[in-house]
Amino acid sequence: MSDLFLRTCAGEVTKTRPVWIMRQAGRYLPEYRKIRAAHPNFIEFYKNPQAACEVTLQPIDRFGLDAAILFSDILTLLPPLGFDLEFIPGRGPVVHNPYRTMEDAEKINAVDAEKDLHFVYDAIRLIRKKLDGRVPLLGFAGGPLTVASYIIEGGSSKELGETKKLCFNNPEAFQILLTKITELTINYLSLQAEAGAQTLVVMDSWAGHFSPADYQQYIFPYTQQIFKALRAKTKVPLLHYANGASALLPQFAEFSCDALGVDWRIDIAEAIKKAPQKILQGNLDPCTLYATPEDITRKTHEILEKVQGRPHIMNLGHGILPSVPISGVEAFIKAIRG
Ligand code: CP3
Repeated sequence: MSDLFLRTCAGEVTKTRPVWIMRQAGRYLPEYRKIRAAHPNFIEFYKNPQAACEVTLQPIDRFGLDAAILFSDILTLLPPLGFDLEFIPGRGPVVHNPYRTMEDAEKINAVDAEKDLHFVYDAIRLIRKKLDGRVPLLGFAGGPLTVASYIIEGGSSKELGETKKLCFNNPEAFQILLTKITELTINYLSLQAEAGAQTLVVMDSWAGHFSPADYQQYIFPYTQQIFKALRAKTKVPLLHYANGASALLPQFAEFSCDALGVDWRIDIAEAIKKAPQKILQGNLDPCTLYATPEDITRKTHEILEKVQGRPHIMNLGHGILPSVPISGVEAFIKAIRG
């Protein structure tokens, strides 16, 4: 049983820091690869509450991490919204009917967050039962920009070129999409909390593609609307994550949320200066887990020293990579727990 994560979210400076790992249920685990091989269609896989439950528990059973995160994806909203999503092995998510024009705006489906995404709440209820209070369960959704970026680009993208083109060149069409995603995300996350999620994470991984001024104008209001609505509806801790977005930390600090996940491109001491009022999460470079146990320990301890006297959630600065050795994960956890 570990309550380190929730105590930290409540502002307590715990002696041992809670640790979980972004994408902790994933391909670096042999037990994940095994069950995944039996479910070749990723969408059918995440829609299966029994499978989602089993996979969610895998890293908890193996490592005894301090939080479980629902096994799902930020792109669950796409099929109900009417976007033809496919996960192609080796290529990642692909949307066959990307959103580019005002005509596309009229085709967006009205989503019933309860009915159309019931498999997520079913999974949460099942996982809570199976966890039996061992560790808290985190629910999550993508940030409006990041979800929109997959819809507009038609998949993953390095530069978000189409997304920013729509934002700057056809702001009305852009705003319609972000508004729909925002409204749905508020209902989706509220229902996750009702089903038993004990913390809600908004993963706006690609926010860092915008300049601070453009982020403030075009993106911040939507994410903030989500946090404000959730704050009014539920008591669970709220966490924001973005990648490559250290320049936006002063803006993230204004969110009505409790904690901010930071990547590894900024020294955690600098991140603290930019968002002093927030609990921070991170920020070990995921590639550190390829290093020797000695180097993993040293780099983890460097972070721990810099967060002394503050509540802190240990994690990587982004998702764990599929080829990371289990021994690297073990060294990271051991470095935190001594
Ligand atoms: O963290 C966890 O263990 C919970 C599950 C989880 C997944 N995706 C499972 C998954 C979470 C929290 C996510 C979030 C997610 N998904 C984000 C935000 C966080 C981040 O990493 O930036 C984003 C941008 C996505 C979109 C997404 N889903 C991509 C780009 C891909 C393909 C990635 C790849 O490397 O192939 C996915 C698929 C996906 N989601 C996998 C997993 C375990 C791999 C699918 C597989 O098993 O083949």
